[in-house]
Amino acid sequence: MRYHDLDWNTLWQQERRHKSRACRSKQDWDWRARDFAARNLNSSYVDQFIAMFAWQPEWTALDAGCGPGTLSLPLARRVKAVTALDFSTSMLKELTTEQQRQGLRNISVIQAAWEDDWSAAGIVPHDVMIASRSLAVDDLQGALTKIDHYARKLAIIGDRVGAGPFDPGLFAALGRSFVPGPDYIFTLNILHRLGIYAKVDFITLQHQRIPDYEQALNSLLWMIPTDQPLTTEEEKRLKLYVTARLRPRPDGAWLLLRDTPSKWAVISWAKTGNDKSCEL
Ligand SMILES: C[S@@+](CC[C@H](N)C(=O)[O-])C[C@H]1O[C@@H](n2cnc3c(N)ncnc32)[C@H](O)[C@@H]1O
Repeated sequence: MRYHDLDWNTLWQQERRHKSRACRSKQDWDWRARDFAARNLNSSYVDQFIAMFAWQPEWTALDAGCGPGTLSLPLARRVKAVTALDFSTSMLKELTTEQQRQGLRNISVIQAAWEDDWSAAGIVPHDVMIASRSLAVDDLQGALTKIDHYARKLAIIGDRVGAGPFDPGLFAALGRSFVPGPDYIFTLNILHRLGIYAKVDFITLQHQRIPDYEQALNSLLWMIPTDQPLTTEEEKRLKLYVTARLRPRPDGAWLLLRDTPSKWAVISWAKTGNDKSCEL
């Protein structure tokens, strides 16, 4: 077999079928929105992601799969206008509440899915197109082509490396197997096939700062699929796992230690100077 015989989009689809956790539906994301916002709005992922690019005040940005505004909110302070798109009603509600609390007026919210017809929804290309940790799609090649089309100057993807946010140590402690599913290497190969030679940086998140024991438990519980709840024995193991990994910080908060840091790839490409720009 030669490299060009590999169909990365089909490989991506096959790999997704083997992962431990079923793909999350819109309702799953609705249900997780409040917790996700609490854990992510002030995470070090945001600081590291924002620090990687020279945001320009005249830019417009489209943030697809924006969640509770993890990036849309800090970006709104750096660019002219942000369009925040997500299919989850509750995620968009979290974003709107926080936007109002922060007194930001330059974020427009659109409820839509990756799979929808964006031009029918009135969405136009923006200077920057961002897809951060949101490419949970079956047709990855279609979504990447869409990203390239909707980015006028710069396209940025935040993608999982290996287990990403999942803690393999937890699954080992519970005695469960864990197959994380495909990661950024599929994205990179499909982009290459599309003639897009992207740059890759990495964000590594070491131990997690956590306010209390309850939140530490929650920060691990979300990793457990809802259709495979913990048994009584597994609950005991989870509590032991958390207790063994919590360390007090001088400021009164706690650090939840991880043996395997959470790692993300930040894949980006500038539209000018690219060898090829995809047509939709
Ligand atoms: C892990 S969160 C990421 C949120 C934010 N971008 C971040 O980096 O923190 C994934 C988000 O993608 C959204 N999402 C997942 N599948 C989607 C789809 N098919 N269409 C639109 N949004 C989707 C979810 O509702 C959720 O808000």
